[in-house]
Amino acid sequence: MRRIVCLLGSPRPKGNSALMAQTLCEAAAGQGAEVTTFALNALKYRGCQGCLLCKTKAEACVLKDGLTPVLEAVRGCDALVLATPVYFGEVTAQLKAFIDRCYGYFTPDYALNKAHRSRLAPGKTLCMVIAQGHPREDLFTDIFPRYAYFYNWLGFNESRLLRACKIYHLGDAERRAEVLEEARALGVELAGKGGQA
Ligand SMILES: Cc1cc2nc3c(=O)[nH]c(=O)nc-3n(C[C@H](O)[C@H](O)[C@H](O)COP(=O)(O)O)c2cc1C
Repeated sequence: MRRIVCLLGSPRPKGNSALMAQTLCEAAAGQGAEVTTFALNALKYRGCQGCLLCKTKAEACVLKDGLTPVLEAVRGCDALVLATPVYFGEVTAQLKAFIDRCYGYFTPDYALNKAHRSRLAPGKTLCMVIAQGHPREDLFTDIFPRYAYFYNWLGFNESRLLRACKIYHLGDAERRAEVLEEARALGVELAGKGGQA
């Protein structure tokens, strides 16, 4: 069974990115995938403290807070869904803090030893779900490739993007049938991808 971990990065629990991600996850669950969802905004946690203990004395992030079970779940997943609105051309602060904490997944010599960069098993898939208020498709296109690049180092050898532009108000995504259809198709694809069958 494929294990999918979904992180909702928006502070709006019923927002656009959450609906897109949940539509994807329901389709994946319908195909037999095990889906675990965390609403990051409901958790209490800190961003990376730069202590580098994960590179010297410990095998993982030493902070113990609301992200600890999230980081543990991601360790065992086949696919990771990162859902976020665009905020100032980036992911939300909630999601960025999680991403920085993923630094603990890197091995101490990840920069030099390309064959052994990650403490995670390879073969995972990263899927970003991005809700963008601005209608211009050519804006903020850098977000997905930036994170796909780093997560590839961590063993997320494949990456997918579900992105919708001109989605601003609560309920906008609900009215975009083609976006939700794409979400369902991606959910079905992720349910059949990565890890052991
Ligand atoms: C603080 C803040 C910053 C935003 N910055 C951008 C931005 O840089 N570009 C953009 O296209 N939309 C921006 N938006 C609009 C959101 O991306 C848009 O409303 C999105 O649909 C919200 O998704 P959600 O319902 O999942 O929270 C911003 C919204 C807020 C509240």
